[in-house]
Amino acid sequence: MIVAIDGPAAAGKGTLARRLAAHFGFAYLETGLLYRAVGARVLAAGGDPADPDAATRAATTLAPADLERSDLRDEAVGEAASHVAAIPAVRAALLAFQRDFALHPPGGAAGAVLDGRDIGTVVCPAAAVKLFVTASLDVRAERRYRELAERGERPDRAAVIADMRRRDARDSSRGAAPLTAAPDAHLLDTSNLSIETAFAHAKSIISAHLR
Ligand code: C5P
Repeated sequence: MIVAIDGPAAAGKGTLARRLAAHFGFAYLETGLLYRAVGARVLAAGGDPADPDAATRAATTLAPADLERSDLRDEAVGEAASHVAAIPAVRAALLAFQRDFALHPPGGAAGAVLDGRDIGTVVCPAAAVKLFVTASLDVRAERRYRELAERGERPDRAAVIADMRRRDARDSSRGAAPLTAAPDAHLLDTSNLSIETAFAHAKSIISAHLR
């Protein structure tokens, strides 16, 4: 069984996906890390993440060790990821790995949960369950602000909101696999939901498909 979870940054999809995977014994793939790893490699090589040649080279030669980099969650890497993610050849290079993970989950798990921007629309259009997780810009920016502060960074609130707005716009307006809800996705707005409530809701949707 494939569970596709899409949505903008800091909507809560990662927390939800991880908990659902643990609950149902499914494998979990955070696809944003693939794009982050590509972005991080381009930055480390001194390249421009928006340069199709540099980004495609990084994507086609991606190795498992690149997913272990300690800088993947840095803001600069997230920004670079959203640039490389707009390049069709980069997306094409990462597609087979994601589909293979979904169809043959590691460890022989009975299912897979993938989260990202285009899982329900492009990577796994036939997924049994699709969730589109959103929250208002203010709520998501506040979550990101706290996350950065907890990591010991000293974020600027206005800059966090501005970055998030810019990243949303780039992810939603790109020609290749833009961020959008699949027509058959269940919408889950977590602006005013606790993690517990969002989890209970998603769990019942998946359970209904398992019956
Ligand atoms: O989810 P996360 O914020 O880590 O993703 C970083 C960037 O990677 C996103 O802003 C988006 O541009 C890109 N991404 C994507 N498709 C996915 C997952 C992430 O384009 N399935």
